[in-house]
Amino acid sequence: MDRPTLFDFHGVSMIKQFTDSWEEVQNFKARPDDIVIVSYPKSGTTWVCYLVELLFFGKTCPERLASIPLHERVPFLEISRTSPTPVQFLPKSFWEQNSTIVYVARNAKDTAVSYYHFCRMNYCMPEPADWSTFLQNYMEGKVSYGSWYDHVSGWWEKKQSYSKLAYMFYEDLSEDTGREMHQLCSFLGLSLSAEEKENVLTRVKFDNMKTNKMTNFSTIHHMDQTVSPFMRKGKVGDWKNLFTVSQDEKFDEDYKQKMKNPTLQFYWRG
Ligand code: A3P
Repeated sequence: MDRPTLFDFHGVSMIKQFTDSWEEVQNFKARPDDIVIVSYPKSGTTWVCYLVELLFFGKTCPERLASIPLHERVPFLEISRTSPTPVQFLPKSFWEQNSTIVYVARNAKDTAVSYYHFCRMNYCMPEPADWSTFLQNYMEGKVSYGSWYDHVSGWWEKKQSYSKLAYMFYEDLSEDTGREMHQLCSFLGLSLSAEEKENVLTRVKFDNMKTNKMTNFSTIHHMDQTVSPFMRKGKVGDWKNLFTVSQDEKFDEDYKQKMKNPTLQFYWRG
């Protein structure tokens, strides 16, 4: 399978697969009760999609959960008609309808490592080359969906003026999934019984999602899970296994230049 190449799309590096239906996506007519889940690639999108879905439908639609893969139940806006969209690309109808948005962000280093392995195993992504080249490209925003720094900062700024946006962190979810789920329920106006919540928490555990064919992407043929599994490690701080000391120093220096807003802080350690 030929790997796609990146091109500049309104100032953001993209691949054709995600821009082909651009017009259709931009004209998407949102409904007030729509919920959009947004993240930079590899930030825990699948985790949050499944969590949100279970909170809404866990009890009422067991057949749906058991027979339809997650990516079909919670469709990608860019491909079929979710969304790793930078803030400026979200179809305007969602803003007009005052739709609910759940954004999930993950620290830059773990995201880079996860993204690198994802590009290795997913033949629909541009060839990542070696780790050192990939990391340099990532720092320069020369990866699909562009700059991590712009993405997380753009949505963070939006959150300050848009009250129906929940800004979640992968690291918080990892630290205490129950607490985060509880907050999400309040934000979404849902009340679940203690038993239902327990049930959701069990289902969204990494090991359970990894073995669940409906959430582990094993039904997708262009992903070679023998190269690297989609549900790879699910840890905070795994970057330490790949970054060299000098890569880390260079990254930190560059990070300070790009991330000037002191109110947006990430945790790097597991
Ligand atoms: P790793 O590659 O570090 O393991 P996305 O869904 O945005 O593509 O993000 C994928 C990343 O989220 C992968 O990270 C994956 O393992 C992790 N992930 C998915 N479900 C998870 C869960 N239930 N708990 C912890 N991490 C999870």
